[in-house]
Formats: sequence, structure tokens, C-alpha cells
Amino acid sequence: MSMPAENQTLRISKIKAHIGAEVSGIDLRAPIDEATRQRLYDALVDNIALVIRGQDLTAAQFQAAGELFGELMEDQNRRYLAPGVPLVSTLSNRHKDSQGKQAKVAKTATWHTDHTNQEFPPKFTSLYPVALPDGGGGTALCNMRAAYEALPEAWRQRIDGMQTANTLISSARSDNVNPDILRDQQDAEVGSMIQPLVRTHPERGTKAIWFHQGKTERILGMEPEETQDFLAELLEVAMRPEFTYVHEYRLGDMLILDNRSAMHKAGFDYDHSQHRMLYRLLVRGDKPY
Ligand SMILES: [Fe+2]
Repeated sequence: MSMPAENQTLRISKIKAHIGAEVSGIDLRAPIDEATRQRLYDALVDNIALVIRGQDLTAAQFQAAGELFGELMEDQNRRYLAPGVPLVSTLSNRHKDSQGKQAKVAKTATWHTDHTNQEFPPKFTSLYPVALPDGGGGTALCNMRAAYEALPEAWRQRIDGMQTANTLISSARSDNVNPDILRDQQDAEVGSMIQPLVRTHPERGTKAIWFHQGKTERILGMEPEETQDFLAELLEVAMRPEFTYVHEYRLGDMLILDNRSAMHKAGFDYDHSQHRMLYRLLVRGDKPY
């Protein structure tokens, strides 16, 4: 039987000054009391990302652990769900597409926050490794609240009030994409979801740079190519090494991100003959403003 949470020693320690905290001394399969749940939630929002170490979760237990942080929502890609666990999807380099071929894995990862083409993007995303390559394949994270606050004033004035038009796959970024997803894009309304480029955190009132490089069709008033160049330049100016952290997974790590203040990027720097699979879940969010 698992030990009740109150009998363990929960420890939360910062990974870097600006981003990330590591949590140990908790078994998420055990009942979690309200005070502990709130402590985890606050640590997540304050530190942008939590790494909860030493877990041993089935997909269903991972789904239940995710529910500690809020109501879960469906992944918009319904092709690769964990069997029997509809709110947990799998990210794997061994997925097959609808033709039975190895699904294309993007070669270049883009900085993003998840599901910006939806009206209510997830406030949190959680990842849990099931199979890992010997090295690499980490998830890069950046504190976009710190990045916004450190921007030169002229840049802040320039981007405040800018809006992005989001779609499933930006026309400027449609190479290296699974053909099934491209077919979904043909059915989508291009650039139909308007989002703020600078997002206010609904719980903290802080502002953060907030976009998905691969889903931004354009910034309103700019062409798609110009938009991609502008976003790349913005990241160049805004991101600093001290605001970023690359999480190299160990089995047992539950990583959870506050998407309202973080952007993230997958790592493809690993031996692709080795299996890499993560479970992913999404916690329902509010309308960005
Ligand atoms: Fe993502």
C-alpha cells in the first residue's frame, strides 16, 4: 500500500533562479491532501515548471495525477491516445501514420505554447516519459514572463497589443509535417483563432510573450513570412540562457509546465533508432487576454 502523502517529506527546491523547481518525497498514486495539492499548484505557477521525481505511473494514474492541477481537456490530435485513457496521448518516434508508414518526425523543433489555435488553450501541459533514448530528447523550457520583463522598453511597446492569427499548421511551416495533420489543416480555417502576442497571467497579473511558431499564420498586419522572421527576431532578443532550462528526462519524472508563462520546444538531438515515448496530458485553460 502507498504511504499517505502527509507521512512523506515533500521537498520543493528551485532548479534555476528563473525557471523550474524539483519536487521529491511524494507518491502521486497515494491520496494527496488539499494543503499539499495547493502547495504543488502554487510552486508550479511561481516556478513555471515542476519536475516531480520518482513517480511510477500507468497512463490512468498519470491522468489522475494531472487532475490534481485542474480539469483535463482532450488533445486535438486524437490519433495517438493511450489505450483506454482518452485524456492521455502518446508522443512517440515510432508512431505510424494512416498509411502504416513511420509518421514523419519534425527535424526542426519550434518554440511554442500548446494549442494556440483553440479558443481555450491548456493552462498546463504535463509530460511523463515511458521510453527514453540513452541521451538527448529533452524538453527545452523558457520563462517568457522574465523574457518579457527584461525586454528593452521599445520592444515591449512594439509588441504590446499585437495579435496573432493561429491555425493548426502555419503555411510558412508546413514542411516536415505528418500528412495526416496536413489533411486536417486543409479542413481548418486558416488563421481563424486570434490570440494576444503578450498574454496576461489570469492568476498573477504578470505579462509574458506567448505564441506558437508553428501555428502562427501571421501577426495581424504582417504577411506569413514576415511574421516568422519577426517572431524569430523577438525570441533572439528576448530569450536569455538564464531564463531557459532543458529538462533531460529520467524515468519517473512528471514534468508539468504553466503554459501561460512558459514556451517550450521538443529536443530531437537523440539517436532516432532508439525508442522515445512520452505520455502527455493537458489541463483546461481560460481564454487568453
Ligand atoms: Fe508542446
